[in-house]
Amino acid sequence: MRKPLVAGNWKMNGSTSANAALLQAVQAESTKLASVEIVVCPPAVYLAQAKSALKGSPVRWGAQNLSDQESGAFTGEISATMLRDLECQFVIVGHSERRALYGETDALVADKTLRALRAGLVPVVCVGETLSERDAGTTLAVINRQLAVVIAELDNAELSKLVVAYEPVWAIGTGRTATPEQAQEVHAAIRRQLTEASAESGATVRILYGGSVKPGNAREIFSMADVDGGLIGGASLVANDFLAICQAAAQ
Ligand code: PGA
Repeated sequence: MRKPLVAGNWKMNGSTSANAALLQAVQAESTKLASVEIVVCPPAVYLAQAKSALKGSPVRWGAQNLSDQESGAFTGEISATMLRDLECQFVIVGHSERRALYGETDALVADKTLRALRAGLVPVVCVGETLSERDAGTTLAVINRQLAVVIAELDNAELSKLVVAYEPVWAIGTGRTATPEQAQEVHAAIRRQLTEASAESGATVRILYGGSVKPGNAREIFSMADVDGGLIGGASLVANDFLAICQAAAQ
């Protein structure tokens, strides 16, 4: 059985006072949601705040990005070891905003994934097609290529620790979601690809859906066989919405 996972990607939002209220609200409800793993990913400067607010609660915290390098002269970068030092357990890798706006290639995403795993972090590796790729009928080929580069870098034990997030680029922050059937089609293809690499990873890897998940659509998306939870952007900034989505995953 794969435990459902709901991760909040706060992106570049938050302030010390707004975070305090949000973390407090999520933490307070989390004990009623024991059947779902809940993770918040604030901007890195607030990870210490998340740690002190969440320590001792079931809610975990993670980062939105990491360096592919271990340490040294890499101005502005943050290493996997530093994230572990702040007791992060998760890190988002290869979000489409990083790929599109900061030039992250499939190869860099694969290197970061390996760096995260070797430091003891669970990478949440994001894959997804653009609207023009979907319209051209290349969705499954794009996802297959993005994932293949990651799979090629990992041994079977590492692969089984991965979390994959399917986020159609056209659904992120647009209010437009994939239908449950569109999500399931891609999730099933991802699971087949993982299974071909190793039967164990096909069985254990959680595949999250992301892209305009809201309290009103979470339940039907999460009901699909290969959807194991969600990566939530906008709605993760509103405590009641995020908690309602966690509730939908718990059921
Ligand atoms: P969204 O973002 O929920 O605001 O669409 C999802 C994501 O980018 O992870």
